[in-house]
Amino acid sequence: MSFQSKNDNKEKAMATPSSLASVAANGRKPGTSTLGIGLEARGVHAWFGKHHALANVSLDFPAGTVTALIGPSGCGKSTFIRTLNRMHEFIPGAAMAGKVLLDGKDIYEPGTDVTKIRLKIGMVFQKPNPFPSMTIGENVLSGLKLAQLKNANKDDLMEECLVRAGLWNEVKDRLNAHGGSLSGGQQQRLCIARALAVNPQVLLMDEPCSALDPGSTLRIEETIKELSETMTIVIVTHNMQQAARVSDFTAFFLADGGPGEMIETAATSQIFSQPRDKRTENYVTGRFG
Ligand SMILES: Nc1ncnc2c1ncn2[C@@H]1O[C@H](COP(=O)(O)OP(=O)(O)O)[C@@H](O)[C@H]1O
Ligand SMILES: [Mg+2]
Repeated sequence: MSFQSKNDNKEKAMATPSSLASVAANGRKPGTSTLGIGLEARGVHAWFGKHHALANVSLDFPAGTVTALIGPSGCGKSTFIRTLNRMHEFIPGAAMAGKVLLDGKDIYEPGTDVTKIRLKIGMVFQKPNPFPSMTIGENVLSGLKLAQLKNANKDDLMEECLVRAGLWNEVKDRLNAHGGSLSGGQQQRLCIARALAVNPQVLLMDEPCSALDPGSTLRIEETIKELSETMTIVIVTHNMQQAARVSDFTAFFLADGGPGEMIETAATSQIFSQPRDKRTENYVTGRFG
């Protein structure tokens, strides 16, 4: 594995003017103070071997907001989201440069405990991946050992997480059934509950609804909106309506013959009504992608 954080990009990254930390310092706090500052990507590049998949992405994720990442297949959305909780570096041959700041502190700083970072910045994948032979209850609590959280009442925590994930009413009478016995939509909400149990500040979701029926999709969207009151959410979606429904901010990615880049980011309403870049407009109006 040739993981590296290239110093020459750090300088550039630090010069980025729109740092959330500086916004917060000016007294314009994007989230509430109890939620912290949020997550900030600074000059992020990603490679797979020699393939430069993502170039110089800087993007703020204010605490307590939902940001949608949109763009055609192959433009680097999944790669980018994996750099946000240090999962990219586990792909053989993968490398990255740049910084990712959680509450102002670089998660790539040498000596950082990667396990702890992944607990603070949780992830939900496209395909629901509960542990199929564990019970529903065991699935929810399965991250606790890793988190070394001393929780006085596991039953309370389990219920709280299932309620927040919007699954409690459907499973409260069968917490001992196997995770694999749930429908796809329920499995995805179980994965969200599992992610919540370790109390993350940020939840990354990579096309969490693309394998789900419309009813389950709406249920998850409700869950996302409720969760965003207490955490920071980043969601990759190919569904423009979904981006419009759930997100506060939208960032458009595109690989235009070279590495994927972030073309434009703004409030979601602006991206869909008055994008600045013609390429964003073409994409959101369905002309390509
Ligand atoms: N594990 C991998 N190994 C090599 N190349 C990869 C890998 N994953 C993604 N890529 C390449 O990186 C680019 C971005 O891919 P990806 O982040 O999956 O895009 P998106 O999620 O926007 O569809 C693509 O060119 C893709 O082929
Ligand atoms: Mg993807």
